[in-house]
Amino acid sequence: MAHLIAPSVLAADFANLQRDVEMINNSEADWFHIDIMDGVFVPNISFGMPVLAAINKYAKKTIDVHLMIVDPDRYIDTFAKLGSDILTVHYEACTHLHRTLQAIKAAGMKAGVALNPHTNINVLEDTIQDIDLVCLMSVNPGFGGQSFIENTYQKTEDLKALIQRKGASTLIEIDGGVTSKNARALVNKGADVLVAGSFVFKSDDPAATIIELKNS
Ligand code: DX5
Ligand code: ZN
Repeated sequence: MAHLIAPSVLAADFANLQRDVEMINNSEADWFHIDIMDGVFVPNISFGMPVLAAINKYAKKTIDVHLMIVDPDRYIDTFAKLGSDILTVHYEACTHLHRTLQAIKAAGMKAGVALNPHTNINVLEDTIQDIDLVCLMSVNPGFGGQSFIENTYQKTEDLKALIQRKGASTLIEIDGGVTSKNARALVNKGADVLVAGSFVFKSDDPAATIIELKNS
């Protein structure tokens, strides 16, 4: 499978949100990546339900929601109603991860798990077959525009090996500091989905930058 590109709307111009959503619709991008932060799990607050509803009104591609919030079980049904296709929770925020994954699927969405940079992929040994997508954080979550953590290459390789060993069909998504400099190496290690915020939206030609990542 060719790798997918998921521009992170966190880096869009919120005063021109419809324009940026249409740019993604008309580009080679595959998914919308939506970062929801609660100011508790991460030291930042992004945006919440009304903004996601506004995005969903115009978005014509898969909506990939990344919840950086504590106790995400409270909002699973809400995010399903808001049009999320994939709902990713943080391993570090879930006491009963298996139960949470079942609840996400029961609500009709694909279930994702994000791992912070300090969390070893081995914690997913017993759940990987139940996970549709693992989001490897290649920065500490909370902010766009941070530098890529190099250890992510090894983690991607290790995660790919775990997925293959268990016969799972889980996708590997890389989130944070992705650019055309590291995209190819990540795909070679097993990445299926590349999230990119600043690299896309701060470039002179976001649509061309998406093509650049796609062709990496
Ligand atoms: C970080 C978010 C990322 C972020 C990526 O907490 O999860 O999705 O938007 O932004 P860049 O690509 O700028 O690192
Ligand atoms: Zn994210």
